[in-house]
Amino acid sequence: MDIVSAGFLRLRTVMNIAVLGAVWGDEGKGHIVHSLSGKYDWVIRFNGGANAGHTIYRDGVKYVHNLMPSFDWRSPRPKAFLGSGMVIDLEQLHKEVTTLWNANSSFPSRVYVDPDAFIVLPEHKEEDKRLNGHIGSTNRGIGPAYVSKISRKGTRIRDLMKGPSEVSNKFIKEMQSMGVHFRGLMELRREMEFDELLFEGAQGVMLDINHGIYPYVSCSESTVAGIYSCGFHFAKPEKVYGVAKCYTTKVGEGPFPTELQEKEAHELRERGNEYGATTGRPRRVGWIDLPALDYACQKGGITNLILTKFDILNGMDKVPMCVAYEKPPMSSSDFFDAKPQYITVPGWKDAKDDDQLVPFIQRVEKSTHCYVSYISCGTDAKDVKPW
Ligand code: IMP
Ligand code: MG
Repeated sequence: MDIVSAGFLRLRTVMNIAVLGAVWGDEGKGHIVHSLSGKYDWVIRFNGGANAGHTIYRDGVKYVHNLMPSFDWRSPRPKAFLGSGMVIDLEQLHKEVTTLWNANSSFPSRVYVDPDAFIVLPEHKEEDKRLNGHIGSTNRGIGPAYVSKISRKGTRIRDLMKGPSEVSNKFIKEMQSMGVHFRGLMELRREMEFDELLFEGAQGVMLDINHGIYPYVSCSESTVAGIYSCGFHFAKPEKVYGVAKCYTTKVGEGPFPTELQEKEAHELRERGNEYGATTGRPRRVGWIDLPALDYACQKGGITNLILTKFDILNGMDKVPMCVAYEKPPMSSSDFFDAKPQYITVPGWKDAKDDDQLVPFIQRVEKSTHCYVSYISCGTDAKDVKPW
């Protein structure tokens, strides 16, 4: 058999997946990706930057990855790729690579960065602080870095690798000496075509620049479209998993139809330890919002759902679910004056007992027309289970 047909056969058997935030981010994607990553050759970030905070528990130790894909570096198989759709703060990346290096000096050599990615400069972070407080920005310079990219004034990593900029080059050189590869998709494509890829989204569909609740959005593509913008047309994900909590949280400003207030909010926030992984801000909290989730599945290209944090609602007699708005949302503007309608379903004493979760999960599937494929009921890798 010639190489082309052998390659074709192999191509037909690989299964790529994407794991996206279905709602406002912070759904537990990092934990899910980390748990699944051992079965994939690459874990690929394609959007956003260090505004993301992907929390991972490894051997009982908590790690927060802001830029580094959530690959489990103890597992021999996965490598990490930072795609060209990201905006990268090199100092932050250097910190995360150093953490890897400290764990084992061979680990950074499994990290690949696309030099076509644009960089975040210190002035972008300053500008964020000055201009984007009303959006609730994380102040990581993400918006201004994308603005400079779109206005054709941005700087790519590739430019720095040629140019004289001392500071940023220092970070690149040090990362290279630790083993990190700066190689673009054109160089890696042949290899990746035959590999199994896990695309790790950052933020969530409701924060997507095109489909989120504008203007209370981030500035990148957090739907499946972001994967293709990065150049991965050859590696379509067969399944696109949207991750959602069994309740809802949000950091930053903007409409949140099922938001709870005061005592109820305080109780749920404390139960779930809902404080931002990147900024430490208390998260806004509320019940699960199925019209929003349905909208996100449709706009985000989500084919299957992963529901997380069931253990947080252990012991509730009844769990509220928003199943409709007075007027179904047809565009992101409709979330601004949404009037949620609720039902309750029987709760669960212990999320580890699958039978008790059935009424809740059936209701999610009914409203979103998506199957729930995995659930998570704890921070350990074994707490992520197929459903
Ligand atoms: P920016 O991307 O930092 O400019 O923030 C824009 C909006 O998106 C703000 O409401 C942030 O709180 C929110 N946001 C950005 N990144 C994340 C994330 O990773 N998780 C949750 N919210 C985020
Ligand atoms: Mg987060």
